[in-house]
Amino acid sequence: MKILITGSNGQLGREIRELEPAYTQYEFIYTDVEELDITDAASVNDYFAFQRPDVVINCAAYTAVDKAETDEETAFRVNASAPGNLARAASDSGAFMVHISTDYVYNGRNYSPYIETDLINPVSVYAKSKAAGEEAVHLAGGKAIIIRTSWLYSAFGNNFIKTMMKYGRERDTLNVVFDQIGTPTYAHDLAKTILDILPMAMIDERVEVYHYSNEGVASWYDFAKAIHRFANITCKVNAISTSDYPLPAERPFYSVLDKSKIKKRFSIEIPYWRDSVKHCIDRLG
Ligand SMILES: NC(=O)c1ccc[n+]([C@@H]2O[C@H](COP(=O)([O-])OP(=O)(O)OC[C@H]3O[C@@H](n4cnc5c(N)ncnc54)[C@H](OP(=O)(O)O)[C@@H]3O)[C@@H](O)[C@H]2O)c1
Repeated sequence: MKILITGSNGQLGREIRELEPAYTQYEFIYTDVEELDITDAASVNDYFAFQRPDVVINCAAYTAVDKAETDEETAFRVNASAPGNLARAASDSGAFMVHISTDYVYNGRNYSPYIETDLINPVSVYAKSKAAGEEAVHLAGGKAIIIRTSWLYSAFGNNFIKTMMKYGRERDTLNVVFDQIGTPTYAHDLAKTILDILPMAMIDERVEVYHYSNEGVASWYDFAKAIHRFANITCKVNAISTSDYPLPAERPFYSVLDKSKIKKRFSIEIPYWRDSVKHCIDRLG
């Protein structure tokens, strides 16, 4: 089975690359914007005609949530139109698509975990562009899964873990918000899950939406404290409220994802978020 990875220099893409030796049943083709700009529909069609992948895992995205507020055009081109290009090319050639979306498609005003059929109501530009990307995958009419995930981090790229480790070592105190609640997700765990569930997921004839994050619930404050504990950093972390740390893009206050559907459908176990944070920090050394 030939699997095309787009955006493979990003967090999720790099974690998939790391896992390749454990998945010898698959042949991987790694691309990022230089090899395959997914916003270019003609290039996408040519690439599919030439490489004939059986599966495309779309790890490409515009993930600068605050920058998107003033760069709506690019956010929509990469997060909305481009997944449509991939989904149509996949559908036309009979390939299966795995598309990644976000907890930010919810407005975060719930106080119980979101299930896949809950009404989406994105508030930021980034969130709206990701919701439009989901819609484009649905409209293409091919076979696909859309996985909504949250608070992604990995051993690669810039992310909350690396920021907290850097600032924690440089400063005596740090302020982190305690009133946004969700679940961190280790891209290594998500990558492994995608590669494990693929053969079964491909049986479904339509587009299925699944939620995936690590298990458990945390605030960004809890996340920061766990990072410092596992990294032996003694910096004092102050719990502050969102109103004390204004950012250009509005974030959901509560975006815990209910993962019952993916766990039941594929009989998978999901690691507890703190165990995964420790695993990532051990890797970072
Ligand atoms: N990060 C999070 O906290 C988070 C949370 C929930 C969901 N997600 C979703 O999870 C998925 C993976 O996120 P991630 O954190 O791994 O993203 P990431 O690290 O930002 O990686 C995205 C990759 O896509 C590339 N890319 C951008 N435009 C492209 C284009 N036109 N064609 C091809 N490649 C392009 C990027 O290149 P450049 O770096 O050069 O732009 C980058 O290498 C995304 O769909 C994201 O929306 C992320």
